[in-house]
Amino acid sequence: MDWLMHGMKRVPGFGATRNPHATVSRGMSNPHTKILITGAGSGIGRALAAKLAGSDKSLFLTSRSADKLKSIAGEVDAAGSTAADLTKPGLAARVVEKAAVALDGLDTVVHCAGIGLIRSAADTTDAEVTQVLNVNARATFLLAQAACQTMAAARRGRFLTIPGILGRAPMRNAAAYVASKYAVSGMIKAFAQEYQRHGIQFSLFHFGGVDSPFWDDLGMKVQREKMIDTATAAEMLAQTIDLPSHLVLGEVVLQPESHQLV
Ligand SMILES: NC(=O)c1ccc[n+]([C@@H]2O[C@H](COP(=O)([O-])OP(=O)(O)OC[C@H]3O[C@@H](n4cnc5c(N)ncnc54)[C@H](OP(=O)(O)O)[C@@H]3O)[C@@H](O)[C@H]2O)c1
Repeated sequence: MDWLMHGMKRVPGFGATRNPHATVSRGMSNPHTKILITGAGSGIGRALAAKLAGSDKSLFLTSRSADKLKSIAGEVDAAGSTAADLTKPGLAARVVEKAAVALDGLDTVVHCAGIGLIRSAADTTDAEVTQVLNVNARATFLLAQAACQTMAAARRGRFLTIPGILGRAPMRNAAAYVASKYAVSGMIKAFAQEYQRHGIQFSLFHFGGVDSPFWDDLGMKVQREKMIDTATAAEMLAQTIDLPSHLVLGEVVLQPESHQLV
């Protein structure tokens, strides 16, 4: 994936790199500048918002928590934002609608919202499996459904999301989470076939562990210092947004060295 990182210049600070977009897209046609980011209040989504702030992109940010959105408002000058639980009836479609109004169109969705669950199958409750499937799978479906209808009308768009490595390879003590993320990988590949002729491109990011608040309450011992940092994950997302418009990156696997090639 060297080409993805080519030309990136890291500078100190939260999720910060010198804006690479002018370099990457110079001389190339890339109309992807009206961007909805879900999960923007935390982790990878927040790092992406911080990275794209001040670039040629217009951002619409959403997160479940209004407080977290407020906390990022000082760092990121977005065209708009709204707090929404994407599992609530009608809210995924409403978020897409609000984004399209605030941005005067919508050509890119980076769907980072999601939750984790590390629990043995035996100990996973009905409520837990319902919740993880609801947030990770059902909400992704509803968001992609609404976004594709909006972007198909303009006949161009990019939809990026993060099933993670567990959307591609199973792990013990994570059956419910794995189910939710395989669902994401499968549905997005089906969306890609359905919307291929409508100019919408789909990208799946199979990251291994990313050092984010995702791990704060999961109750699993992990070596966070060996994980992917959120700035690197955000860089890969940003590079994909900035690909020339006739190119699509389908799937990326990026893992810490200690976990590679599952
Ligand atoms: N971290 C990892 O190791 C890793 C690895 C592979 C894949 N992933 C995936 O990458 C994505 C981002 O993870 P992350 O590491 O950035 O996690 P994170 O820091 O926990 O952020 C998750 C975001 O999702 C939002 N969210 C959760 N439930 C929601 C709901 N019902 N409605 C709307 N928004 C909701 C949260 O909103 P609030 O903060 O406002 O509540 C938060 O902004 C997730 O889909 C995750 O499964 C993570």
